[in-house]
Amino acid sequence: MSVTIRTLQQCKAEGRKFSVLTAYDACFATQVSNAGIDAILVGDSLGMVLQGHDSTLPVTVADIAYHTACVARGNQGSLIMADMPFMGAATLEGALAASQALMQAGAHMVKLEGAGWLADTVTTLRRNGVPVCVHLGLTPQSVNAFGGYRVQGREDDSAQRLIDDALALEAAGADVLLLECVPRAVTQRLLAAVSVPVIGIGAAPECDGQVLVLHDMLGITPGKPARFVKNFMIEAGGDIAAALRAYDTAVKNGSFPGPEHCFS
Ligand code: KIV
Repeated sequence: MSVTIRTLQQCKAEGRKFSVLTAYDACFATQVSNAGIDAILVGDSLGMVLQGHDSTLPVTVADIAYHTACVARGNQGSLIMADMPFMGAATLEGALAASQALMQAGAHMVKLEGAGWLADTVTTLRRNGVPVCVHLGLTPQSVNAFGGYRVQGREDDSAQRLIDDALALEAAGADVLLLECVPRAVTQRLLAAVSVPVIGIGAAPECDGQVLVLHDMLGITPGKPARFVKNFMIEAGGDIAAALRAYDTAVKNGSFPGPEHCFS
C-alpha cells in the first residue's frame, strides 16, 4: 500500500508517528521504503552530502528533478517529497514551473522553505493540484540572512511570529509543516495551534513525524553532527537496512528524538 497525504493525516488523527528520511537515488530509495519509512524527502541537502558544497544554495531545480526521478524509480510505496531549491519560489511563475518539473519527475508533494509570505504561493500550488509542505524555523537556504545555522524562535516575538506564520500557511492550504531547530516549548505551542501534520527535525518528540538526512543518521557526513542527529549505524553494527529499520521503529515508538536531540 502506498503512503499518501491521507496516510499522514490519518497518522496524526490516530496519534501514530510517521517517519521521513532523505534519499537521492534509486538504490537508497528502495532500502528506505523497504524499511517502512513513510516518506522520502529529496532534499536540497543533496548539495552538501552529494555535491560537496558548503550550503544548499547552489542546488538547482534540474538537480532536484533528476534526483526525484531516480528516487521514484527505486521507491516501493513511500510518499516522495521534493525540495524547492533556493529562490525557486521567489515568484509565482517560478514556483509553478519548478513544481511542474518536480511533480512530473515523480514527486507527490513539494516542500518550500520560508515563512508566512509563502501563503499566496501555497494557495496557487494547491489550486493546481500540488500538495505543499512548508519548512519553517531554521530554513537552511536563508543561512546568510540568519548569519549561521541558528535555532529559531528563541525570543517571545519570533516564537509568536512562527506560530502566526504556521496558522496563515495552514489557512492558505499547506498540507504539512516542517519545523527545523525550534525550541521544544515553542514547537509544543505550534502543535497545539495547527491541525495539519507537523514534521520535526531538532524540534520536539511531540511532532507528528520526524525527518533526518540519510547520511547523518548513517554517520557518514563529515564533521561534527548537529545536536538533533542520532547515528543509527552504531547500534545496527554497520548494517544499513537494520539502521533504517531502527530509525523507523524509534520514530514510531517515540524513543527518537530524545531530549538530548531537542533545544530548550
Ligand atoms: O534538504 C533537506 O534534507 C531538508 C531536511 C534537513 C529537512 O530540508
